[in-house]
Amino acid sequence: MALIDEIKRPILGNSPEVAALKKMIERVAPSKTNVLVIGESGTGKELVARALHDLSPVKDGPFVAVNCGAIPETLLESELFGHKKGSFTGAIADKPGLFETANDGTLFLDEIGELPLSMQVKLLRAIQDRSIRRVGGNETIKIEVRIIAATNRDLEEAAKKGTFREDLYYRLNVILLEMPPLRQRVGDIELLMAVFLKKFNEKQKRKIEGFSPQALEIMLSHRWPGNIRELENILERVVTLEATNQVQTSTLPPEMIAAVRKAAGVPRELVLRPNFMLGSVDLEEILDQVRKFYHREALLYTKSDEAAAQKLLGKASN
Ligand SMILES: Nc1ncnc2c1ncn2[C@@H]1O[C@H](COP(=O)(O)OP(=O)(O)OP(=O)(O)O)[C@@H](O)[C@H]1O
Ligand SMILES: [Mg+2]
Repeated sequence: MALIDEIKRPILGNSPEVAALKKMIERVAPSKTNVLVIGESGTGKELVARALHDLSPVKDGPFVAVNCGAIPETLLESELFGHKKGSFTGAIADKPGLFETANDGTLFLDEIGELPLSMQVKLLRAIQDRSIRRVGGNETIKIEVRIIAATNRDLEEAAKKGTFREDLYYRLNVILLEMPPLRQRVGDIELLMAVFLKKFNEKQKRKIEGFSPQALEIMLSHRWPGNIRELENILERVVTLEATNQVQTSTLPPEMIAAVRKAAGVPRELVLRPNFMLGSVDLEEILDQVRKFYHREALLYTKSDEAAAQKLLGKASN
């Protein structure tokens, strides 16, 4: 088995996109090269950063994650580089920063696109000089650290516009890893569903066996804006809420069903041939959805005139 499949938090997926990503991680991890990970929310950027660390020569050193978007600008410098006692109000003792904490390990700079310009200069200097200086200190401290940065923003665009320093962008982006959104690797959805179903069945002592064909269709058609995190949350929800031993459409979040219907334009049931090999279908539910869909469409057409809508649906009482 490849090393990457033996790490504590494995990267799941059988799609060519995930296979390529894993190959890249194996190739890049042994070096100390800076890596920039870009991708939408919930695509696994932090998971990849940890995989890079766990497969690196500094795997026994610290892995320190910083969310650059969550720390107020005034505190950021002291958080990253530390401070000397008395260097500002509240600095009651000497304190090392996260760069020092991550020494001989990996520093994961999450949401790097949120870093204010003033801090970008200081970060660039720290990376270039391989050393830092605590706020209020005049001693230079050598730092050996591998930097992995992540963002869901288009940094290249930000660099062109001047909101992100171009020189820092090139420093961080020695190797670029792009996380594919889940909707571009639909082939992985069922695998991830199975893994998370097992996880939450065990956690909640349930024995849910799978999804009804309609529920599965919706899972496969959804656009997953929150990617794998969203998928995982949905699985936790349905394992909690489902009363039968198979996840029914009615247990899925209504907003998700609405989003799928809207994207498809029509109920999935209208364009799908039933696949009885997957088990029985709930015809009443399907007919109910078709009724509701026609009713909604009729109301749209008649600008919410209920009587006129009923007439269009052949139900006029005269
Ligand atoms: N390929 C994958 N296999 C298994 N679990 C995954 C995979 N990708 C992501 N996850 C899981 O999905 C969740 C979100 O992943 P992660 O936190 O790494 O995303 P992110 O890209 O950092 O998101 P954000 O931009 O919102 O911070 C985590 O629980 C992670 O373990
Ligand atoms: Mg993250």
